[in-house]
Amino acid sequence: MKKDFLWGAALSNVQAEGAYLEDGKGLNVYDTLEVTPEPGIPPMFCDTSVATDHYHHYKEDIDHMAEMGFKAYRFSVIWSRIHPMGDEDHANEKGLDFYEDMVDYLLEKGIEPVVSLVHFDMPDHLLKTYNGFMNKQVIEFYAKHVESVVERLKGKVKYWLTYNEINTASMLSRLIAGTLKPEDMKTTEFFARLTIHLQIAHARAVEVIKRVDPQAQVGGMINYSPLYPLSCTSDDMMAADFKNKMMSYLPLDIMTSGQLPMYFKNFMEKRDIVVEMSEDEKAVIEASSKKLDFLSFSYYTSGVQASFEDIKDPIALEDAILFDGRRLKNPHYAANEWGWQIDGGGLRYALVNLYDRYHKPLFIVENGIGIDEKMVDGKIYDDERIAYYQKHVAALKQACEQDGVDLMGYLAWSPIDFLSSHKEIRKRYGFVYVNRDFDDLLDLGRYPKKSYYWYKKVIASNGEDLANDIEY
Ligand code: BG6
Repeated sequence: MKKDFLWGAALSNVQAEGAYLEDGKGLNVYDTLEVTPEPGIPPMFCDTSVATDHYHHYKEDIDHMAEMGFKAYRFSVIWSRIHPMGDEDHANEKGLDFYEDMVDYLLEKGIEPVVSLVHFDMPDHLLKTYNGFMNKQVIEFYAKHVESVVERLKGKVKYWLTYNEINTASMLSRLIAGTLKPEDMKTTEFFARLTIHLQIAHARAVEVIKRVDPQAQVGGMINYSPLYPLSCTSDDMMAADFKNKMMSYLPLDIMTSGQLPMYFKNFMEKRDIVVEMSEDEKAVIEASSKKLDFLSFSYYTSGVQASFEDIKDPIALEDAILFDGRRLKNPHYAANEWGWQIDGGGLRYALVNLYDRYHKPLFIVENGIGIDEKMVDGKIYDDERIAYYQKHVAALKQACEQDGVDLMGYLAWSPIDFLSSHKEIRKRYGFVYVNRDFDDLLDLGRYPKKSYYWYKKVIASNGEDLANDIEY
């Protein structure tokens, strides 16, 4: 691996910070989310007022990252900490102070900050009053948030991500885009409209970042779960191909080419969907494509896609494939308790595929496994997590060393435990255990898991030593 490879991990601050009304922060769409548990998991709810109290423990948490030898750390600036309502003119200085202190501490420890400008944290007021990104006014509120943050952190933060998992916005619209589908709007139109509005927002962010800090490097970001055809039939192949394009490549195609791709225009035309774009909006998308420095993605699992034999109408078939809720399983891979299948080789495929398609430096900014863990005598033996990481780090090494992919870094998910996107503490991802239960906050103490020492060794050896021979 190259000498300056950015080993580290990433966190979504809204899932970890807590302090949800402290120092002027406003409520956001994650705080107010009504939880829908994943299939098979009994209903549960955690509020976000404390989460894993990263707000008050961030120095201790960064000390652990430094101890593991992190070269980089990705965190998110909570939008509602900076603009509590979202539509006010002035930023909350205390919120900016908090993140500047965090960046200063990271730099003091020799850790490169990688900053996400939004991660499940749109101010709740923008959802309730404007319906989030369905309303183009919100694009300008977002641009203001970006400007406030970049103005404050310029010269200190080199790597910026405009928007977490921008491609999942229509699927998880409330959480990701602060928006709900209007009742009288078809799902296909909602998908198309949201895609375009978010691309304008991304492009505005690129424009702002490069104007405020021309030295900064900016990346787009998606969740990438490559879909394989369920069977080796051309129908399933076409189905997988179609959905990969619409769900994963579409935002990256627009970000990198500055244009709406033909297949997307065709998709809208066939359904009589018209999304107005002004000349200025088209121009900002075009201009931002020339300024984008890298592409980044989260990878947890691959998926499978099959066609629907009984649907003969081609448009109905495409729609069924696009919004398919069957959660088909790949018979070749085991899964964690939440049904997320473990496919290390899929990460190699993802890297090779994205690099072939875009020829841009890539950055893995999330990869990890959620496990229900119990601490016994201060120890957490998470060999399952180590096994997961062994497969994925081996895969990314193959992609770099054999396939020639230009990979900037690898950020595992996550340095510390936090609440999952479904606001539960049972599904843990950290290298450091945070001592709290679902309904009892306990002492919120930090305890390194076995994987902490394993990852420290991986980083120290620049990815050469992946053996699980840790004495713990
Ligand atoms: C990613 C999100 O999609 O998945 C994270 O960016 C999230 O915020 C992660 O935590 C894992 O998902 P979950 O539902 O297990 O928290």
